[in-house]
Amino acid sequence: MVVAVRHASLNHGDLNDARSGRVPPGAVLGSDVAGVVVTPGESGLEPGTRVVALAAGAFAERVAVGANMVAEVPPSVDLAQAAALPVAGVAALRALRLGGSLLGRRVLVTGASGGVGRFAVRLASVGGAYVVASVGSPARAEGLDMVGADEVLVGPDGPEERVDLVLDNVGGPWLVAGWQALAPGGTLVSIGCASGEAAVLPPYSTVGPHRSLVSFINSGPVAGDLRDLVRMVGSGALPVEIGWRGALERFGEAARALRGRRVAGKAVLDVV
Ligand SMILES: NC(=O)c1ccc[n+]([C@@H]2O[C@H](COP(=O)([O-])OP(=O)(O)OC[C@H]3O[C@@H](n4cnc5c(N)ncnc54)[C@H](OP(=O)(O)O)[C@@H]3O)[C@@H](O)[C@H]2O)c1
Repeated sequence: MVVAVRHASLNHGDLNDARSGRVPPGAVLGSDVAGVVVTPGESGLEPGTRVVALAAGAFAERVAVGANMVAEVPPSVDLAQAAALPVAGVAALRALRLGGSLLGRRVLVTGASGGVGRFAVRLASVGGAYVVASVGSPARAEGLDMVGADEVLVGPDGPEERVDLVLDNVGGPWLVAGWQALAPGGTLVSIGCASGEAAVLPPYSTVGPHRSLVSFINSGPVAGDLRDLVRMVGSGALPVEIGWRGALERFGEAARALRGRRVAGKAVLDVV
């Protein structure tokens, strides 16, 4: 199907791709798109239907989307908010599911002020967890209690009381502290490495009662997860914080803000 793009959101991965040297000159980046159906293809959706999708080349006016990568957006959900969901929302949802039941469990989210982090804090809280949010500076803690954080830590040091699940977005010393904070039987899901720093585990810190470090990547069809996220946004269970918004022409400004850790939640570009 073909979607006319109204909004696209910017992800940390887009910035990494741009610098990777793997993307040929002239290639269109971007993954998160919200817009309206132009050509339904096999989706069964009517032209004009409002949709959100994970699609390669999202920073464009029109984008080809797989039928299993799209969800309809009801009138109750703002399209700009929907655009913020695919990469970060799906990553937060799936990483939390890897940890099993959340009811009454303690969850640490690193990089909690960022795109994945804010969704993860909220989803873990909605799932019944006690949520410890970890950020890099006091300013980045702002609003996290309203999203669902029960406790906020500033800096890489982990919490005094052990946690059952760690969602690590930052890597380096944050991953190490998260690992050391894990209770026996606990799981650390490594989602990203926003710090770009190496994680150096002290000798014997990997020896002892069973704990798991699990790698993570968003892959495969996301239609079902997108439907879940859109439904939660529509019901008010999952607020979407847009910390930067502007026209696609201001892409450089958005990228500098994200790279400079000045975006609370997501950066959304208005394409049309
Ligand atoms: N595996 C996957 O499929 C998948 C999917 C989505 C995202 N990711 C990865 O997950 C990570 C988070 O993504 P995101 O979209 O949430 O990114 P984001 O919105 O840029 O947030 C990243 C957070 O990490 C912290 N951070 C950034 N640079 C840092 C540094 N140099 N040192 C310490 N902390 C730093 C920042 O928190 P403070 O400002 O509070 O320090 C920021 O809020 C990225 O590495 C991204 O590539 C992976």
